[in-house]
Amino acid sequence: MKKLLILGTGKDQVFGIEKAKEMGLYTIGLDLNEFSDGVKLVDEFYKVNIKDESEVIAFLKRYEKPIDGVIAFGVDIPEILARVAEIKDVCYYTDYNTALISKNKYKAKKRMEEYGVKLPKFSEIETFEELIREIKKFGYPCVLKPVDNSGARGVLRITEDIDLKRAFEYSKAFSKSGSLILEEFLDGLQISSESFVIDSKVYTIGLAERNYEFLDRFAPFIIENGGDLPPPLTDKQREEINEQILKCAEAFGVKKGIIKGDLVLHGGKIFIIEVALRLSGGHFSSIEIPLNTGVDFLKYAILISLNEAIETDELVFKLEKYVSLRYIFPYKKGTIKNLEFPEWFEKEDSIKAYDFYYRIGENANYPVKSHPERLGFFLVANENYVELKKMIDQSYQDTVVEIK
Ligand SMILES: Nc1ncnc2c1ncn2[C@@H]1O[C@H](COP(=O)(O)OP(=O)(O)O)[C@@H](O)[C@H]1O
Ligand SMILES: [Mg+2]
Repeated sequence: MKKLLILGTGKDQVFGIEKAKEMGLYTIGLDLNEFSDGVKLVDEFYKVNIKDESEVIAFLKRYEKPIDGVIAFGVDIPEILARVAEIKDVCYYTDYNTALISKNKYKAKKRMEEYGVKLPKFSEIETFEELIREIKKFGYPCVLKPVDNSGARGVLRITEDIDLKRAFEYSKAFSKSGSLILEEFLDGLQISSESFVIDSKVYTIGLAERNYEFLDRFAPFIIENGGDLPPPLTDKQREEINEQILKCAEAFGVKKGIIKGDLVLHGGKIFIIEVALRLSGGHFSSIEIPLNTGVDFLKYAILISLNEAIETDELVFKLEKYVSLRYIFPYKKGTIKNLEFPEWFEKEDSIKAYDFYYRIGENANYPVKSHPERLGFFLVANENYVELKKMIDQSYQDTVVEIK
C-alpha cells in the first residue's frame, strides 16, 4: 500500500484526504490543529505546524518510515513540500530555492520575464518616493501589493483619487519583508486557472471567470465574488493559456506538477498576473472542476505526487455542467446576529456545497478588505445556464444575514 504524506488536515483538505483513501492509499496527516476535520480520516496523525519549516523537518527526523509521496491541498507552502521531497526522496514539482522564488511576487515576475511570459509592467517598491516615481511611469490605474502575502491581503487598486501615502502604509503593513510590487492594472476578463504539467506539456483543465461585480463597491480593495465555469474563451485563447503556463513551468523548472494561475485577457491577449506551484484551495479543484469538466482533478494531482504514470488522453476539457461559486458578504460592520441558508438548499440537487466561515456572535467587517472577511459561500451547478443564474439570485434572496 502506497503511503502519502498530507500537509494539512483542515476543512480545505478533507476532499483530498477522502480522495487518497478512495484510491486505496495509506495516509499520514500533519496539522497544528489536532481537532481539525481531517484528523479522523487519516490513518496516522501528528500534530505539526505545517507552515513552520523547522518543525516539519524535525518531524521528518523522528518519522523514519519511508513515504511514497507528499501533497498539500490549498496551502501555499511550496518550499516546505520541496524540502520534504528532498529529505524523503519523493517528488515535488520543483526544488526548494525555486519554490521560494515562486512565492515572492517580485522575484517570480523577474524570473517569468526572463522566460518570455506575458506580464503587466511591474516594479519593486520599497520606499514611498519609489512609489511616486513608478506611478508616474505606469499611469493610473495600477495595483499595489505586498510581495509576500495572499488572499488579496494588502492588494489595492490605485486610482487618481487615492491618498497614496495611506495606500503605501496600508499595503506595507501586510508585507512580511516590507517590500511591495507595483503593477499596471490590466483591464479585461479575469480568469483563474489550474493546469497539469506532465512531461513538459500543459493541460489546463480548470478555468473560471472571476466575478468582480463588487470592484467598485469595495474599491480600492480587489474583492472577488466567486467565479463561473467555464469562462467565455475560444479554443485559441485556451491554447494561448497553455502556452503561457508552459513558459511559467519552464521558468520554475516544473516538468511534472500543478500550476495554478491568475490571468487576464487584456486587449485580446492572455497575461499572467501570478502563478503558484500548488493546488487551489476552496472548492476549485475538488468540486468545481470535476463538475464542470468530468475530470477527477484531485486524483491526478495525487498520482503526480506519487510520481505515477498519467493517462493524458483523459485530461481534456469538455463541458458537463455550468458551475458558479458565490460568496456571502456582510452589508455593514457589527456583531453577527443571524446567519442562515435556506432550507431548500438541502433538497436542491444543483446546490453542491455551502458553508459559513463565521458564527453568530462574531464580528463582521465592512467594507470587506480581504477575502477572509467574506462570511460564507454557496456553489451551484446546472446543465442549463439560465437555470443556474436563477438559482444564484434565489440563493442570495433566501439566505439570511443579520448584523447589529
Ligand atoms: N496587474 C493587475 N491587473 C489586473 N488585475 C490585477 C493585477 N494584479 C492583481 N490583480 C487582481 O487582484 C487579484 C489579487 O492579486 P494577486 O496578485 O493575485 O494577489 P493574491 O496573492 O492576493 O491572490 C488578482 O487575482 C487579480 O484579479
Ligand atoms: Mg492571486
